[in-house]
Amino acid sequence: MDLQHIVSQAKEMFSKVDNGHALDKAKSKFLGKSGVITDQLRKIRELPAEEKATAGQAINHAKNQIEEILKHRKDEIIEHKLQREMADSSIDITLPGRGNRTDGSYHPISKTLDRIAFLFNSMGFSVIDGPEIESDYYNFTALNQPQNHPARSMHDTFYLADYEYLLRTHTSPMQIRHMEEFKPPLRVISPGRVYRVDSDATHSPMFHQLEGLWVDDNISFSNLKGLTREFLRAFFENDAIDVRFRPSYFPFTEPSAEIDMFFENSWLEVGGCGMVHPKVLKNVGIDSDKYQAFAFGMGLDRLAMIRYKIEDLRLFFENDIRFLSQFT
Ligand code: FA5
Ligand code: MG
Repeated sequence: MDLQHIVSQAKEMFSKVDNGHALDKAKSKFLGKSGVITDQLRKIRELPAEEKATAGQAINHAKNQIEEILKHRKDEIIEHKLQREMADSSIDITLPGRGNRTDGSYHPISKTLDRIAFLFNSMGFSVIDGPEIESDYYNFTALNQPQNHPARSMHDTFYLADYEYLLRTHTSPMQIRHMEEFKPPLRVISPGRVYRVDSDATHSPMFHQLEGLWVDDNISFSNLKGLTREFLRAFFENDAIDVRFRPSYFPFTEPSAEIDMFFENSWLEVGGCGMVHPKVLKNVGIDSDKYQAFAFGMGLDRLAMIRYKIEDLRLFFENDIRFLSQFT
């Protein structure tokens, strides 16, 4: 029988099967115990002695060719099977693993708050907490902003019970609450949530402030500047930060200033401050001839924004897990 014809028969047969089992069956037709090639090899015995060697060589050559074709087809079938399984499967095995994201973590604002409380604790300040639903009296009137005072217009908010209560617009009411209840000397910070009708990259309708109050008998505006500057240096772990005190106005402090920091090529206001107005001290029964007080109110979210280099502080409150998980 023509050996080359056998080889091409094998090739054709192998190419028609599409699974390993069928390929094994086809293989045995040629290379199995009673396969065509095996048969040929067996027949060498019957040939004249001088033809045996050449015939043996030719048959072995054909056998090797068939084995080669078989191996090639086997690889093709495996590859096709894999492709088909990948295409049929809804699992994309090339995607990276999702890992274990079930552990919770602190919100960047909570982390910032903890850090600030720690730093002020180490400077002798206690931490006090106050109500977010505040009366008109504590939020405005006691802070020297009676009804119709023009400074109220910058603090529009959400009102309750016929305007008698409101969501506090700053943490400054805590100055009044604390001074009413305790006698000087006093040194406290009061962090917490506040609300205003505001929304842009540096303003959120709900944000956080950190009120600071120091009442004592020998303190001045230079102590206020020294303390806030020192705090900001410690908070940003940088002695060379750019801080600016810009003259300003608050009805409850005199003199007053805004505290600005240099961030992303411009000055960003981080807080307001000043010496507590003698009228405010008088209202809470503190003798302003004997005591002085200074106060400041910093935007906690603004501090976090600068520390973490966030361009839009509203991101803190969108609760996008991709944003928040960067702080774990
Ligand atoms: C006040 O609220 C004063 N109570 C601060 C103060 C306290 C003055 C004690 C004197 C003595 P002001 O409106 O500037 O001031 O707000 C203080 C800081 O809160 C701002 O500097 C800013 O950092 C932050 N802030 C104000 N509005 C928003 C807002 N919508 N979103 C995020 N941060 C804000
Ligand atoms: Mg301001």
